[in-house]
Amino acid sequence: MRKLYIDTANLDDIKRINSFGIIKGVTTNPSLIAKEPKQNFDALIEELAEFCDESSLSLSVEVFASEPEEMYKQAKEIHTKLKSIIDPDLLRIKIPIGLEELSVIKRLSDEGIDVNCTCCFTEQQMQFAALSGAKYVSLFYSRLRDTSGNPKEVLNRTRDFLYENNLLCEIIAGSIRSQGDVSDAWHNGCDIVTCSTKIIEGMTQHPKTDESVAGFLKDFNNWIK
Ligand code: E4P
Repeated sequence: MRKLYIDTANLDDIKRINSFGIIKGVTTNPSLIAKEPKQNFDALIEELAEFCDESSLSLSVEVFASEPEEMYKQAKEIHTKLKSIIDPDLLRIKIPIGLEELSVIKRLSDEGIDVNCTCCFTEQQMQFAALSGAKYVSLFYSRLRDTSGNPKEVLNRTRDFLYENNLLCEIIAGSIRSQGDVSDAWHNGCDIVTCSTKIIEGMTQHPKTDESVAGFLKDFNNWIK
């Protein structure tokens, strides 16, 4: 199954795009949080969690610590804070990939906390995160392409690895910059694409569509006179 998530911490955008019935989740990261008006972090994520629970949308919230032990503590704090607001099956804690971070992923996963391992750029990173128990792995699709990497190949190789090893882990493609990226990522093996409001809004637009609709209305209005 291929799914679409929205990549933002802006609740108004989440509500509007969700009204179209096209998204299954929300991903955030510290930079997306920082784009919102300065406010209490806990209050912001609780508000997002409340709407996501009401709408059966998954929600990914990223830790903002840099040391693994601190990441673990923050992950537990966020999970404890939000599990009474959003169904825990909808809540994912984002942990950036790294060697020591693998132990954080394993500890959290063993405790039943769903981890979205993020900031991945290689199949090895995503494969190792999945082996450690991550339920989601997030590839930074365009940032990888910016460094002359091949995100399509990374997605295909990761998908094969997860399938061959019976790993219950879904691949998220983030860092999406065009409508083509969305289709390419889905076509090359990712389960979920997460992208900005702007990209989502552009997905249904095409100049020939506008031209066709205008032409139909012009012809019909001339006839109906
Ligand atoms: C996924 O949630 C990532 O954090 C996000 O898509 C990164 O995208 P960017 O490269 O546009 O910052």
